[in-house]
Amino acid sequence: MTQDLSPDPFRLDGQTVLITGAGGAIGQALVKAFVAAGARVIGADRDANQMAGLPLADTLVFDQGDTGATRAAAADYLARHHVPDVVIANAGFTRAEHFGELDTTSWDREVAINLSGVYAATDPFIAAMAKRGQGSLVFISSVNGLMHFGNPAYSAAKAGLIAYAKAIAVERGRDGVRANVVCPGSVRTPAWDHRLAANPNVLDVVLPHYPLGRLVTPVEVANAVRYLASPAAAGVTGAVLAVDAGLTAGNLRFVDEVLRPT
Ligand SMILES: NC(=O)c1ccc[n+]([C@@H]2O[C@H](COP(=O)([O-])OP(=O)(O)OC[C@H]3O[C@@H](n4cnc5c(N)ncnc54)[C@H](O)[C@@H]3O)[C@@H](O)[C@H]2O)c1
Repeated sequence: MTQDLSPDPFRLDGQTVLITGAGGAIGQALVKAFVAAGARVIGADRDANQMAGLPLADTLVFDQGDTGATRAAAADYLARHHVPDVVIANAGFTRAEHFGELDTTSWDREVAINLSGVYAATDPFIAAMAKRGQGSLVFISSVNGLMHFGNPAYSAAKAGLIAYAKAIAVERGRDGVRANVVCPGSVRTPAWDHRLAANPNVLDVVLPHYPLGRLVTPVEVANAVRYLASPAAAGVTGAVLAVDAGLTAGNLRFVDEVLRPT
């Protein structure tokens, strides 16, 4: 079978892309990456002020921890607008760093924001995409969804997102809907502010874990998401792409400390 080669399969000219957590650090990089790719971008966040000044065609506001309000906001958007071509589920949150800081309240809140709320935010769009016969989603999970690096409730939710994306890929593929996952490693964003407040040197302690010797940037995460959402990845669905400076490729500290100690 021969196929025409698009002049630039990484572009999304004329497509509408909805991005949750648009006001966050990775969210803002996503907004800029998709605008640069020619897309019309709709931002969603829990507070409209967080999205002020971004090059957005429209905004949506909901607290993803409130699954009823989140589903209602998505349904309300769909009642007034065309179905987006792409949805990027990027909003996320964690505070309970280990089991010693976890209780039923924090478990419920982190699983609500990072998993149940993502289902509530995306499910109405997926149904509409399937009805139309075309659509693509990218979920921002985490290396925490692949291996344990702390934050037990958040990690369970991020692992759940991988299963959710695969379910969409398998069950909605015949309807023309693709779903893929990006798992960032540590990125210096406001998500790290509380850790830096507790230990200003925390990033120095993180670096020896990373084979590339540095953290990934919001732009590097956004570029991977842009690829998965674009026509360049038209044949890719159910994939899980780590953008983690090599963290989950293996255990660098084991090699450095056990096999070649200085
Ligand atoms: N920064 C990292 O080290 C890292 C690593 C792996 C994965 N991630 C993931 O990347 C995504 C973006 O995080 P970031 O690093 O840009 O952090 P960030 O704090 O800058 O952005 C998070 C965004 O999610 C939004 N959000 C949080 N709780 C919400 C709620 N209840 N309702 C609606 N929106 C809510 C915030 O308002 C913000 O816009 C998250 O899903 C995060 O889990 C981050």
